[in-house]
Amino acid sequence: MKAVRLLEYGGELEFNDVPTPTIARDEVLVKIKSTAVNHLDLVKASGKVRQILPIDLPWIPGHEFSGVVEQIGSDVAGYAPGDAVIGANGTGGAYAEYLPVRPAVIARKPSTLSFEEAASVPVAAQTAWEGIFTHGHLEKGQTILIHGGAGAVGAYAVQLASHAGATVIVTASSDDEAYLNSIGASQVIDYREAQFEKVLREKVDVVFDLIGGDTQKRSFLVLKEGGHLVSATQPVSQEETAKYHVSGEMMRLAPSGDVLGKIAKLLEEGTIRPDVATVYALQDAAQAWKDIAGNLPGVHGVSPSGPGAERRRPHGKIVLRVA
Ligand SMILES: NC(=O)c1ccc[n+]([C@@H]2O[C@H](COP(=O)([O-])OP(=O)(O)OC[C@H]3O[C@@H](n4cnc5c(N)ncnc54)[C@H](OP(=O)(O)O)[C@@H]3O)[C@@H](O)[C@H]2O)c1
Repeated sequence: MKAVRLLEYGGELEFNDVPTPTIARDEVLVKIKSTAVNHLDLVKASGKVRQILPIDLPWIPGHEFSGVVEQIGSDVAGYAPGDAVIGANGTGGAYAEYLPVRPAVIARKPSTLSFEEAASVPVAAQTAWEGIFTHGHLEKGQTILIHGGAGAVGAYAVQLASHAGATVIVTASSDDEAYLNSIGASQVIDYREAQFEKVLREKVDVVFDLIGGDTQKRSFLVLKEGGHLVSATQPVSQEETAKYHVSGEMMRLAPSGDVLGKIAKLLEEGTIRPDVATVYALQDAAQAWKDIAGNLPGVHGVSPSGPGAERRRPHGKIVLRVA
């Protein structure tokens, strides 16, 4: 099969022929239609996190996908060849024509979405779901502050929290204000112009932190006692949580077909929607990485556009069309 591979940490991606994988009795083989690019792909490939997130080289990146079940293992029930599915895993491998996965991490593809749209869903939407509900315990009538609300994860968090009956406040660029209002945000605080802790009139029940650093530190000032600070980016200081009488934790996505199935239902009925910025062909994955790395100085050894050349990216995911 054709696949995109990384041969060494920090190296260029290569598009070439590799053996088609076989499946175990408890796996399904998915013929990948599309996959999507995540920061995690680039960060793992850079080698900077090899102690905590090692990869086996050569490595096929890609933690999420849409596709069609090609073959099922003898122990698998609930799926059959020909089923259109979406899924995510923690190990990668989706920048390829075929991927073996456990049925526990897939769900049926919403029929209303194209394969390109569907591939953009699993990582961002499940991270948002688990961040705000599983770890943040967000309930109807509460208020949530989402840092980085216009990003891939943030946009799902805004939609899911709003659908759950919460008041949604986000930090983002003012360019994204109309977009964020259209998907359920009631207040958008421009992080370039204002400090959220000075703008907020009342404290919030949950903070979902997709930014980290100083943004996370200042979040303690706006959390109600007993509130939850959930970060997808970095560990949360337990000294600070004790000082402010709140809970705080860093989450890591735990791919779940059950959660993904609930998300797929909301997508199918049009309650939430995906956001695709750009679609590349699989063989252009190296270019897609260069484009995304322009927003991530220092990652994967690719320089940003130039000193002072801060550029705004369109919101939405970068998708790779495989077939
Ligand atoms: N723990 C996990 O399991 C997990 C899973 C998925 C993702 N993540 C992490 O979660 C983070 C978000 O991922 P993503 O895919 O949503 O990223 P993304 O699509 O790149 O979005 C980042 C967003 O943050 C905005 N932003 C930048 N600086 C900001 C600030 N100081 N305050 C508020 N907004 C700011 C950006 O806006 P501009 O365009 O205006 O700069 C952009 O809209 C990443 O660090 C990713 O690695 C973790």
